[in-house]
Amino acid sequence: MTAPLEGRTAIVTGASRGIGLAAAAGLHAAGANVVLTARTREAAEAAASTVGERALGIGAHATDQTRARACVDRTMETFGSVDILVNNAGTNPAYGRVLSQDHARFAKTFDVNLWAPVMWSQLVVEAWMQANGGSIINTASISGLAPDPDLGLYGASKAALIFLTQQLAAELGPGIRVNAIAPGVVRTRLAELLWKDHEPEVAGRIPLKRIGEPEDVAAAIVFLAAPSSSWITGETLVIDGGQRLGATIPDVTAADFRAGDSAGDRT
Ligand SMILES: NC(=O)c1ccc[n+]([C@@H]2O[C@H](COP(=O)([O-])OP(=O)(O)OC[C@H]3O[C@@H](n4cnc5c(N)ncnc54)[C@H](OP(=O)(O)O)[C@@H]3O)[C@@H](O)[C@H]2O)c1
Repeated sequence: MTAPLEGRTAIVTGASRGIGLAAAAGLHAAGANVVLTARTREAAEAAASTVGERALGIGAHATDQTRARACVDRTMETFGSVDILVNNAGTNPAYGRVLSQDHARFAKTFDVNLWAPVMWSQLVVEAWMQANGGSIINTASISGLAPDPDLGLYGASKAALIFLTQQLAAELGPGIRVNAIAPGVVRTRLAELLWKDHEPEVAGRIPLKRIGEPEDVAAAIVFLAAPSSSWITGETLVIDGGQRLGATIPDVTAADFRAGDSAGDRT
């Protein structure tokens, strides 16, 4: 088995659990050294210890520039490069209608979901990627692609993150690729409100008939980090089991095919 990311180093923000932890594990399995961040050092170190030998946990709130800089510096000292940045830390303190929100919830949502990816990108580009190239992956959401009754402000921040991905891809090519992923409902703590008490109903509305697992999303992150995606930039890869299609259509039967044939015969 080849290790496409051997010798590369990745920082994954918000990696103590959920999608970030699965991404860190996936990148590590693909050969990368991995730095995992979380708001506390304890949570980050505990998560890193589950990932493997080439994993380091660092406490850094996603919007704390001093801690972020210290994290990038420590990554450079420990592993000698920062080839991959996964801007994964995200928050949603603003569940409900947009006009019921206040400035504090707006500011927190946009600080963590949009400003942090800008700031972490600045730091890794300056420290390594400008001279050596790299891949930046932003964790957006299908909430950023279409309105949702209760996720409007969060969705607006993710829509802006999708645009930021395109903008940075245009600004940072050819050496640095910038892509986003847009997951649907994934089994994590952040999204519990969306699935925990009614999983069968949610799964039933998804063409692939299940909610996502963090590993489903991690696989896409590894792909966008790896050389196999070297001609992809500015894209947003949806990983949602078809949820975004908005409808499931009952199984096609043999009779449906016969009906189609006879319709064809009539023309
Ligand atoms: N789950 C879904 O259905 C879904 C769908 C679409 C997009 N997403 C996106 O996926 C990303 C990961 O979310 P998740 O679902 O995996 O949630 P999760 O399981 O709750 O994990 C969130 C992670 O982010 C960390 N974190 C939270 N706030 C942070 C901050 N300010 N600074 C640094 N780290 C922070 C948490 O660590 P600590 O608490 O230890 O700090 C935790 O490791 C988010 O950007 C989210 O918007 C999720």
